[in-house]
Amino acid sequence: MTKILVTSALPYANGDIHIGHLAGAYLPADIYVRFQRLKGQDIIHICGTDEHGVPITLTAEKEKKTPKEIVDYYYKRIKDSFERFGIKFDNFSRTSIPLHHRVSQQFFLKVMEKGYIYPREVEQYFCPRCQRFLPDRYITGTCPHCGFPEARGDQCEACGRWLEPTRLKEPRCKICGGVPELRKTRHWFFRLSSFQNQLKDWIETKGHWKENVKNFCSGWFKEGLEDRPITRDLKWGVKVPLAEAKEKVMYVWFDAPIGYISSTIEWAERIGQPEKWKEYWCDKDTRLIHFIGKDNIVFHALVWPAMLMAHGEFILPADIPANEFLNLEGKPMSTSRGWAVWLPEYLEEFDPDPLRYSIAINAPQTRDADFSWKDFRRRNNDELADILGNFVNRTLKFIVNNYRGNVPAVGLIDHTGKEVITQIRSVGKRVESLLERFDIKQALREAMGLAQLGNQYFDHQKPWSTHHSNPLACEQTIHVCTKIISALSIILEPFLPFTSEKIRKMLRLDRISWDDLNDPKVPATIGEVAPLYPKLEPERVELQLNKIRERAQMSKPKEIDIEYFSGVEIRIGRIISAEMVAGSDRLIRMEVSFGDFKRTAVAGIGSHYRPEELVGKKAPFVTNLKPVKIRGILSEVMILAADYPGGIKILIPDGDPPEGAKIK
Ligand code: 2FM
Ligand code: ZN
Repeated sequence: MTKILVTSALPYANGDIHIGHLAGAYLPADIYVRFQRLKGQDIIHICGTDEHGVPITLTAEKEKKTPKEIVDYYYKRIKDSFERFGIKFDNFSRTSIPLHHRVSQQFFLKVMEKGYIYPREVEQYFCPRCQRFLPDRYITGTCPHCGFPEARGDQCEACGRWLEPTRLKEPRCKICGGVPELRKTRHWFFRLSSFQNQLKDWIETKGHWKENVKNFCSGWFKEGLEDRPITRDLKWGVKVPLAEAKEKVMYVWFDAPIGYISSTIEWAERIGQPEKWKEYWCDKDTRLIHFIGKDNIVFHALVWPAMLMAHGEFILPADIPANEFLNLEGKPMSTSRGWAVWLPEYLEEFDPDPLRYSIAINAPQTRDADFSWKDFRRRNNDELADILGNFVNRTLKFIVNNYRGNVPAVGLIDHTGKEVITQIRSVGKRVESLLERFDIKQALREAMGLAQLGNQYFDHQKPWSTHHSNPLACEQTIHVCTKIISALSIILEPFLPFTSEKIRKMLRLDRISWDDLNDPKVPATIGEVAPLYPKLEPERVELQLNKIRERAQMSKPKEIDIEYFSGVEIRIGRIISAEMVAGSDRLIRMEVSFGDFKRTAVAGIGSHYRPEELVGKKAPFVTNLKPVKIRGILSEVMILAADYPGGIKILIPDGDPPEGAKIK
C-alpha cells in the first residue's frame, strides 16, 4: 500500500496559534489525514514547533526572557491547543531537542561533502549602537521588489519574496532603530543556483499542483535562483558542525524542514520501531505532502526540495497544498497589532467544531478569504444548528418519543428510500474525490448537503403524520433517516470530529470507516439524545469583536505626557556643509549650525538628496540624543524627516526661524 507522509508547517514557538495558522496549514492537513485514515490508508501526520531563529530570539529579547523560556512555554501551549482543537499528530516534536540537532548537523555535513555548501566572505549589517551583527529580522527596511516599508530582513510579508538584509532600502536595526553599517564576516552558502534546472524539470512534472505554488516557482525561475547563506551569527540554534564555524548556528530555514525528518525519527523511536521512519522518508512509493501557508512556498517548493536533492537519500514532496491568507474582519491578520483570534482564547469560549466549520467552509484555497464573527455566528446558528443539528435531533427525538429508543428495522425499502441511499453513496464519492484534490471547502459543502437532503426527506415523508396513517412507511422513513445520520458521522468526521463523536455515541457506533458509506450501519437502539449545537446570541460574538478592536486600539503607539515630550530637545539648525559618507550610497554627513554651537549629523537620506541640495537648508533636529558612531563618524544630532509615498523628505519650517530656535 502506498504510504502517505503528511507534514504541517512547524509553527514558531514564539506565540499562540491563531485562526490564520489554522486555515493555512493545520486544519486542511488534519481534515486530509482524518479522511485518509477513515479510508484505511497507511498515513502519518508529523509536526512540531520551530524553536530556533530570529523570530524566537527577538521575542525573547522583547519579553526579557531567555529563548529557552520562550520556546518551553509556547511549545506546551501550542501542543495543548492543537489537541483541544482536535488537530491530531502522530508526533509533535520540537527542534530544540538533541535528536533534531544531530539530524540537522548530519544533513549539513552530507550536503557539504557533496559540494553544495561552501564558505564565503560577505558584508553584513552590524549595529554600532547594539554592537552586534544583525541577521534576518533584526533588520527592517523597504522591500526592493514591492516597496513595502516594513519588510523584514529575511522575507517581505507583503510580496512574499525571500530577501537578503543587504538588499533592503533604508535598513534599520530592529532593536534600537539605529542605522546599521556593513562589516565583513564569513558565512556558509547553500549552492541553490546549481539546482535551478533540476528543480524546473521536477516542477514541470507537477501539473496537478495548485496554481499559486506553480506560479510562485516560475517567478523565481525567471529571476534566477541564487546561492544563499545558511549560517547566522547567533547563540541560539543548531551549531554549525565545523571547527572553523564555532560561533555560528544554522539559518532557521535550513534546520526547520529537517525537523520533519527528525520528528518522524522521534515518532519511530517512541512507538518502539526505530527504523520505521525510513519506510516513509526513503521509500520512493511514499507520498510526501507538505501543508503550508502561502508565506512558506519558496522554502517548501524550492529551497527544501533542493536541499533534499543535494542530500540524495530522501524522497521529494509529491504535493504542496499551500493556502492563501485568511483575513479577519476584512483586515489582514497581524499578531503584533493584536489583530487575530488566538486558539486558546477561542477555546475558552466556544467548542472546536463551529470554528473548524467556519474556517473549512470558507477556506482560503485559491484566494484570500475573510473570517468575521458575524459570519461565524451565522454559520453556527443557521447551518450547523438549523440544518445539521436539527436533522439529527428531530430524527433521534422521534425514535425516543415514538419507538422508545429502538430504531425501526425494515425489510424492504421503497423507491424514494433507495434513492436516498444512492445519494449517500454518490455524495461520499464526490467528497472523496474533492478531498483527494485538497478541496476541503467544496467537500464540506457536499457533505453538508447530506444533512440538507435528510431534512428534505424528513419533511417530504412527514413521519409525524404517517406514524398514525401508515406505520410501516413511518418506520421506513425513520430507518432511512438514521442511515443518513450514520453516514453523516462518517463523512463529517474529518471536518467536525467532535460532532461525529457525539453522533456516534448517540447511535452507539464504535467503529466507522469510509467504506461504510456504501451501506451505513444502523443500530438497534440509540443512546441518550442531546442537541449538537447551542445557538449563539449576538452578544457572544460582539464581545469577541470588541476584544480584538480594543486590543488593536491598545497596540497603537503609547501615549506620552507633556513632561516626557518636553524632555526631547528639538531645534532649528542650518546645514552648513554636507557630503556623502565614503563607501555608502545613502549616508550623508552634515555640519549643522544652531547659532551658538555646531553639531555633526549622519543621516540615511542619500538616496533622496544630493549633498549639495541640502546645504543652506534649515530643518528641525533632535539635539539631545545620545551621540552614536555611524561608520566611524560621531553623529550628535538627528534630522527630522517624514515618509512620503515615494521616499523620505526632511521637514522644512514655515518662514525663516532663527538658527537654534526651540521647537515646542
Ligand atoms: O513560517 C513559519 O511559521 C515557520 N516556522 C514554518 C517552518 S515550516 C518548516 F519548514 F519547518
Ligand atoms: Zn541597533
